[in-house]
Amino acid sequence: MVQCPRGTRDFLPDEMERRRYYENVLRNTARTFGFREIATPIFEETELFVMRSGPNILNEIYSFKDKGDRDIALRPELTAPVMRMFVNSMSNEPRPLKLFYFGQCFRYERPQSGRYREFFQFGAELIGNANPETDAEAIALAASMIKAIGLKEYKIRIGHIGIIKDMLTDAGVPSERLPDVLQKLDKRLYDEAREILETMDISGDTADGIFRITGTVGGKEVLDLVPEETASYLRELTDLLSDMGVADVEIDLGVVRGLDYYTGMVFEAEAPSLGAEKQICGGGSYSLSELFGGEKVFSTGFAIGFDRVLLAIEKEGQKYENKGVLAYVVPVSDHERKDAARIVSMLRGNGVSADIDIMRRKMAKAMKHASAAGARYAVIVGKNELAEGSVTVRDMNTGDQKTVKIEDLVMMFLF
Ligand code: HAM
Repeated sequence: MVQCPRGTRDFLPDEMERRRYYENVLRNTARTFGFREIATPIFEETELFVMRSGPNILNEIYSFKDKGDRDIALRPELTAPVMRMFVNSMSNEPRPLKLFYFGQCFRYERPQSGRYREFFQFGAELIGNANPETDAEAIALAASMIKAIGLKEYKIRIGHIGIIKDMLTDAGVPSERLPDVLQKLDKRLYDEAREILETMDISGDTADGIFRITGTVGGKEVLDLVPEETASYLRELTDLLSDMGVADVEIDLGVVRGLDYYTGMVFEAEAPSLGAEKQICGGGSYSLSELFGGEKVFSTGFAIGFDRVLLAIEKEGQKYENKGVLAYVVPVSDHERKDAARIVSMLRGNGVSADIDIMRRKMAKAMKHASAAGARYAVIVGKNELAEGSVTVRDMNTGDQKTVKIEDLVMMFLF
């Protein structure tokens, strides 16, 4: 038997209905913040992702030559594609641009619970500035989305990549080596970070000083440890957030982020119930447009790991009830099949979700099927009622039945 490729999943109808429901919860939340949806191609020129992250990224992404000998990659994330689109087609639009997207991403990772090779991100990018207001808007949107989904246990941690980059630079790390060290710090692999720093003749004491800062988590008092300019920026940001009703954030100077385009504020959200793969959202402020041939513009954005938030609410016991069709039309015998077909078409044509037996089942079996398929009502088409221009409508939850004129059916189902 052929299976779906490692790290990918099929979504069956029940699961797909649930996913669409929650996708729309997120869409509606983004719209209430004034963000508008966009879409970019699922594959891009490989160069788009290599330009910022360097050739090492090729180990982590799906890249290949197409039949025209072009280097193509399946997108591992959407920030670079969105900024390419901005430079190509939106750079003259009034700022800020508030864009959101939902779509699949591909990463060549070792699959495990909550980590896939094909996964879905719901993200937002706010293009136009890097100041506490834009950062607060992005974090507030992320927090509102997580709340709207119904997740109860989560933590939002805010840091600042500038502090760590400055400390490393001051210690003597050349800019081209920064990503190597940052990647280790992102994963909190301090011993491996120390080994890299040693190759640059950076002393153990200096390394310890840096790790002490990146290991600092807490409330606003943590900001006393960082340079005043950054501290006052982050104070302004957290004050704004509490004005916006997002008070439950932590300052964590160890938020480093694996992707290397961030310049200032960085943040993550996690759901502790998920265990190892608990990060449900990541983002921060960055500048990428100049790399793709545009003017330098600061932006802030984030992406929620859609699969992970769904896993997290499931772990918390949140149920989604699938909805079957509103009306299932059942002819009492073969003589009423034509009338049943006419009635189901009339319902569908008027926007009522309706289904009909097409398996030539006898009435009792067809009713059983309607119930198993989750239909809300059965519309029973029998000879005697038809003679009066009526049908019998049965409420599948209560079993109550009543006779309804065919011309009144649509009104009954829609209102
Ligand atoms: P990221 O942290 O790499 O950031 O990914 C965002 C989220 O996608 C993660 O927090 C996680 O929930 C989810 N995710 C990542 N990899 C996987 C995987 N293999 N399987 C399941 N879920 C996964 C970005 O991608 C940035 N583009 C976010 C951003 C937007 N920054 C600024 N704007």
